[in-house]
Amino acid sequence: MRIDKLLANMGYGTRKEVKSLLKGGTVHVNESPVKNGKTHVDPEEDVVTVAGEKVEYRRFIYLMMNKPGDLISATEDQNEWTVVDILQPEDKVFSPFPVGRLDKDTEGLLLLTNDGQLSHRLTSPKKGVGKTYVAEVAGEVTGDDADAFERGVTLDDGYVTRPANLHIIESGDISHVELVITEGKFHQVKRMFEARGKKVTRLKRVKMGELVLDEELEPGEYRELRENEIEYLHTITSKDKG
Ligand code: URA
Repeated sequence: MRIDKLLANMGYGTRKEVKSLLKGGTVHVNESPVKNGKTHVDPEEDVVTVAGEKVEYRRFIYLMMNKPGDLISATEDQNEWTVVDILQPEDKVFSPFPVGRLDKDTEGLLLLTNDGQLSHRLTSPKKGVGKTYVAEVAGEVTGDDADAFERGVTLDDGYVTRPANLHIIESGDISHVELVITEGKFHQVKRMFEARGKKVTRLKRVKMGELVLDEELEPGEYRELRENEIEYLHTITSKDKG
């Protein structure tokens, strides 16, 4: 990797700023001064220092966000604010992207990473990772709805959903439910309820597998995943579900 790219990735400024940093002569690779941005370094092996301080290289970033209900799950957009827009610059330099999509008005657990393989695996139906949502639904939700979700319901485009687990927390004019699905079709939860003639009025994702949304995070806040959480996600996505 080029030294200027490595330094830019690690938050030492834009490519232009890094160029003048290098010119200044404070960057060393294995104790030798380096001024040329094109110089190749092995980030895992070479010791890079800036003004005597070691540059700790890391390739991946894993963030857990409590997505608020007014941002779109994208990296950039011409007209709308995205979940990446609210990240701190020191996190943005890693170019994280959302793992799957939550609708603009859906709240809750959203992972952002630059680890494409993990992202792919977490969203692949083959891995069968459960996504748990809590939803507010207009009208009564019944055991018949739960049975239908267990069997699979036919969406408006003819797609039959995989078995999903519906737990009714409270049923009434406005019902509260928890639903676990293992796939992520466009507007899936809303369309599953539509298939039962019901409308989701509020939707929040609270879990992916057993990774729970951190209750300390207010909507719009995020934190890095802990080592054990990252390990857990790698473990549950390492095998296909048979
Ligand atoms: N299902 C939906 O309908 N919307 C989401 O954002 C996620 C799942």
